Amino acid sequence: MATTSIPLLTKRLVLREWQTDDWVFAHQWSSDPKAVAYMQFGPNTEEETKEFIFKVITYQTEEPRLHFELAVTLKETGEVIGGCGIRIVDAENQTASMGYMYTQRYWGHGYGTEAAAALVDFGFSKLKVHRIWATCDPENIGSARILEKAGMRKEAHFRQHMLVRGQWRDSLLYAILEDEYAALKQTDKR
Ligand SMILES: CC(C)(COP(=O)(O)OP(=O)(O)OC[C@H]1O[C@@H](n2cnc3c(N)ncnc32)[C@H](O)[C@@H]1OP(=O)(O)O)[C@@H](O)C(=O)NCCC(=O)NCCS
Repeated sequence: MATTSIPLLTKRLVLREWQTDDWVFAHQWSSDPKAVAYMQFGPNTEEETKEFIFKVITYQTEEPRLHFELAVTLKETGEVIGGCGIRIVDAENQTASMGYMYTQRYWGHGYGTEAAAALVDFGFSKLKVHRIWATCDPENIGSARILEKAGMRKEAHFRQHMLVRGQWRDSLLYAILEDEYAALKQTDKR
């Protein structure tokens, strides 16, 4: 499996492997009640964030590698502004899922859109998957928009799909297939 293309580079971002000390950055969003509002975890304690970082670092030596959890950093300063990931969730059916989270002060700068496009491209061009999916809460307008801009189609609306801090939440399922991505690349030269 091709892992040589990590870090992934975009116009303004470097998506690189997590390092132990990065937990401080990850804690900025994982401990923020607003940032975790639609997530099943959090707000995290420091210990929980450290455990998450420890876990994703173990993925780096998986053989074969199935999980690519990456720190999203600014090319200009190296600051870690978020985290994103693409994981092969069903190897037999060549299917991956993806997700992302950013520190609140960097929301609305197009970084989520930029990183998601890089993950989709990595999934099809390097991991050679057939299908990539992602879910988001219907109220998470920014996330739904990121998935649409990555070329994904809304495939389903699951009712009361997840129990988030004692409240049933709906989920939207978005997906893109390899031939859809190839067609997209032809038309918008991504
Ligand atoms: C959701 C999240 C990832 C968006 O990231 P971002 O970097 O701010 O997104 P972008 O700046 O690339 O914006 C993407 C699009 O969504 C829109 N958008 C972003 N936040 C929005 C909001 N709160 N309400 C409405 N639209 C929003 C942007 O205007 C943009 O659309 P446009 O290109 O048509 O103008 C970010 O807010 C976040 O990390 N939230 C907490 C964690 C989370 O919810 N993760 C996703 C779980 S599914």
